[in-house]
Order: sequence, then C-alpha cells, then structure tokens
Amino acid sequence: MSKFKIVAKTLAGLENVLADEIRALGAESVLVERRAVSFVGNQEMMYKANFHLRTAIKILKPIAEFEVTNRDELYDHAKEIPWTNYLALGKSFAIDATVQSEMFVNSMFASLRVKDAIADQFREATGKRPSVNSDDPDIRINVHLMNNHCTLSLDSSGESLHKRGYRIGQGEAPINEVLAAGMILLTGWHGEKDFLDPMCGSGTLLIEAAMIAKGIPPGMYRKSFGFEQWPDFDQKLFGEIYNGDYEKEFDGKIIGSDISPMDIALAKANVKNASLSKVIELQVQDFIKMEPPFANGIIITNPPYGERMKPQSITELYTSMGNTLKNRFAGFEAWIISSSEDGLKSIGLKPAKKIDLYNGALACSFRCFELFRGTHKDSVIIKKRVL
Ligand SMILES: C[S@@+](CC[C@H](N)C(=O)[O-])C[C@H]1O[C@@H](n2cnc3c(N)ncnc32)[C@H](O)[C@@H]1O
Repeated sequence: MSKFKIVAKTLAGLENVLADEIRALGAESVLVERRAVSFVGNQEMMYKANFHLRTAIKILKPIAEFEVTNRDELYDHAKEIPWTNYLALGKSFAIDATVQSEMFVNSMFASLRVKDAIADQFREATGKRPSVNSDDPDIRINVHLMNNHCTLSLDSSGESLHKRGYRIGQGEAPINEVLAAGMILLTGWHGEKDFLDPMCGSGTLLIEAAMIAKGIPPGMYRKSFGFEQWPDFDQKLFGEIYNGDYEKEFDGKIIGSDISPMDIALAKANVKNASLSKVIELQVQDFIKMEPPFANGIIITNPPYGERMKPQSITELYTSMGNTLKNRFAGFEAWIISSSEDGLKSIGLKPAKKIDLYNGALACSFRCFELFRGTHKDSVIIKKRVL
C-alpha cells in the first residue's frame, strides 16, 4: 500500500496530544504544526486516523502543492490536477478554503476559483460538470492558501470529526467534543481514578471520558466518513478497522451532576444514545452543596463563564466552587476550564498547572488544582520528611 502525507487538523493547544495519539497509531514522520499535525501513512492509516483520533477535527490528504502569485494562477494550477481520479460526474462536491493571503480578500473567492477550475475541466472533457452541494457533498476539497503557498487536499473526514454521532440533545453551551477529549487527555487521565464532572450540562466530558476509559473509538457512532465516497474506497479494509477489538475493562466510576434538571435530562438522553448508561451515573445536584461521591478522584469541569451572568454572580459562583473544593474535596485533583479570569482568580486556590486553550472563539485557561489533605504547606513539609 503506497504511503502519502496526511494532515490532521485540530484546535489550538491540542497539537501535542494529537501528535501523541498519531504516534500511538504507528504513523511515521509526525510533525507538529499550527493547529495541525502532519504525518506519513497509507490508506489504512488514513482510515484509522479518522476512526481513532479523539483530538482531530479533520483528516486531509494533500494532492497538490504549488506557489501562486495571482488569482488566475490558482485557477490554472487547480485545472492541471486530474480531477477524474477523485471525482465522478454523478458525485457532488464542495470546496472549503482557509486563506491568509493578500491575493484574496475573502476565502470564498479562492473557493470559487478552484470550483471553476474543476467545473471547466469536466465541461471541456465531457460537456457536463459534477454538481456543487455546499451542505452535504459527496466529495469535499480543501484549499489552504498561506501567503503564496497553496495546498489542495481531499477531506477524508467529511463532516467535522467533533460530530461523533452520539449527541441528540445539547444545553446552552455544550463543549466541543474534540476539546472535551483533548482536555481529558491533557490531564493524563485514562481511567486510573474515579471521574466527576459536577457541572456536566449535556454530558460531553463524561461521555468522552467513558469512551477513553473503555477504549471506545470516537468514530464508533458516526454514520459516515468522507473517504467512503472516494473512488478508491476499500470497504473490506475499513470493515476490519471498524470491527476491531478495542474495548477495555473499566470498573471505575464516572459521575456527572448539574444544578439544572433540564441539562441532566439532556445528558441522560446523550449517554443512553452512546450506550453508556451502565458506565455513567447522573444526578441533579448543586455543586456548592455537594458531598464527594467517592474519594481521591479527578474532577474535570466546564462551569459557566459568565457571558449571561452579572460580573458579581460569576465571582460569587467561582468563590463558592473554590470553597467547596477546599473544604470537601481534599485528595481530589480538579481541572477547570474557563474564559473568566476574574472567576478563576476567585477560586482562591493556587493552580499547579495552567494550559491555554480556546473554547470556540473564547481564549480560556484550563487549570489544575491539587487539593491536598491539610494545607498545601503541610504537604510540602510531609514531602520533605519523606525525602
Ligand atoms: C458551560 S455549561 C457546561 C456544558 C457542558 N460541558 C456540556 O458539554 O454540555 C455549565 C453548566 O454548569 C451548570 N451549573 C451552573 N451552576 C451550577 C451549580 N451551582 N452546580 C451545578 N451545576 C451548575 C449549568 O446548569 C450548566 O449546565
């Protein structure tokens, strides 16, 4: 099976966890880039990347790279590509463009030039052209134009990989599934400790945690991937990957709670749809009044950031969260993501780690609080005595 370059796109801050996931799949020449990781692999690796990578948004297969100095050159180079290798007349296509170049004020113009090149090539050869369908195309083509450098790729994923397929209900601010999985992997958790999300909303972090702990591939619930529409789709090969034996034993606890009964109902629906009702427990509960459901666990949570709250309410909420953690959750490791600097300060605990991430357009800090028994100072003294 021939090998080729593959590019996995991700969210800012998740590049290194994605590179670790890619290395674990056995890929070669793994290179961390900006919001992406490139690597070398064959068709099997490309299918596996789509099916197994928790922190990838898209898996692209570059088919041409060239320099352009004006808009016509983009059209000319795009027209030289033998599109019949990738696209048949009966299939629809769409172009997705990322452009940072003075040549095009708008990425839509770059998409149009490539679309025209493909349509004209087919029309000149056959008198007909494949149809364009922006919403649900058979084949997606990606244009990446950075200054003068252009890469044209086939998008092997189709719909973004954060659309796992298990979500049937969402609250007001569900976290992106790729971000949720990335946060969990950044903490180093793979099921070692019991897991709690006390502000779980529609349950995304819980479901991603259960999938990690049980070894369920993130592509398991998807109905389709882009590569299934390609002329070279190898159904037998993908069937072997899909039906592989990945699941692990996990007998730990994964518990979610939320103050909102509506969110817990949504979380229950999503958990049931992911066939994880036996793994994830859910309850309506105000975190501020919560007693730990187990000892020495990990908390990973995504509280409100305060966009729809008064500034005073957000600092009060985070102060109460900090007090709850300090007074009742000694022995836990708590990870909190938020875009609210005031909120995070109000927790009143010194973070052991801070990681910069984005939740959509919001710059966030993902902070780890180690909740020692006794004061932090005591634990340092204990460590000194042991040494
Ligand atoms: C940003 S949302 C969490 C979204 C969730 N990660 C998801 O993917 O759907 C914040 C959640 O915190 C909950 N919340 C706010 N105050 C709370 C409290 N005192 N105790 C428990 N949950 C609370 C809200 O009901 C909301 O569901």
